[in-house]
Amino acid sequence: MRSDKRKVVLVGCGMVGMSYAYAMLNQNTVDELVLIDVNRLRAEGEAMDLNHGLAFSGSHMRIWAGDYNDCNSADIVVICAGVAQAPGESRRDLLKRNMEVFKSIIDPITESGFNGIFLVATNPVDIMTEITYKLSGFNPRRVIGSGTALDSARLKYLLGSYIQADPRSVHAYVIGEHGDSEFVPWSNALLATKPIDDIIAESKGKLKMEELSHIEEEVRTAAYKIIEAKRATYYGIGMSLTRITKAILGNENSVITVSANLRGEYGQNDVFVGVPCVVNSSGIQRILEISLTDEEKAKFAESCEELRQIYDELNE
Ligand code: LAC
Repeated sequence: MRSDKRKVVLVGCGMVGMSYAYAMLNQNTVDELVLIDVNRLRAEGEAMDLNHGLAFSGSHMRIWAGDYNDCNSADIVVICAGVAQAPGESRRDLLKRNMEVFKSIIDPITESGFNGIFLVATNPVDIMTEITYKLSGFNPRRVIGSGTALDSARLKYLLGSYIQADPRSVHAYVIGEHGDSEFVPWSNALLATKPIDDIIAESKGKLKMEELSHIEEEVRTAAYKIIEAKRATYYGIGMSLTRITKAILGNENSVITVSANLRGEYGQNDVFVGVPCVVNSSGIQRILEISLTDEEKAKFAESCEELRQIYDELNE
């Protein structure tokens, strides 16, 4: 039974999971945060460490290392668990291993009587979100992947810096796979309500159209660069997950580019992919269909097709 306390269970206490937990603590987002990890001792240590920060935070969060029974009364279960790619291992092998990990996670969560919302961050996130949906049998509106939420934040940051505007006033999205086939539908990129194209055209040569494709490339390759420099990315994704959590718990109806199950939207079916969605306490309240040019439609269809192929190969 869900209580009136806002409760989140985090499964996977690696760098991504703990960056999320730390952001949650600092943003006072929830009443109860339960940490689960295959390494129980790790979860206990992380809970202790976070609890020692309570006296310095404005939060009254209760944080403890728990078990799958705690999911019973949770509003959201956030999954950051999964194996990292080993040298020489193909993406497909990694996926197979992560599918096994997810089988051992999703079953005990559903058996606990959990009836909240799944929020998945494990990569490749679109595929792992679909696997969560299939294994749980949940309504797809209650199975959400972090999708291109972080990529869109990277875009807003880079575009904002280029045109000298607060990223929060930049309205632009990255859609498609959270990965190499993602792209920016530039026809929908705005500063307030003014198209970016117009801003560039009116800049008297100070801003250049070519720079937009550099920015898009920067966004697409950001994770590779960060991994090369510091082995993993975690703060950005931790904050993206916190943003999505707040939209759910606060019943915000916020538009975030999360990975959602398409059922005819954008002419696509049978795929989980990053698109702008209205997120509230029911999960994905609705998928927002922004208008795309023919070229953008083709890119989006290609990205969906790649995801479907990966998923089908996995299940062969
Ligand atoms: C990134 C990881 C979360 O994009 O995929 O940073």
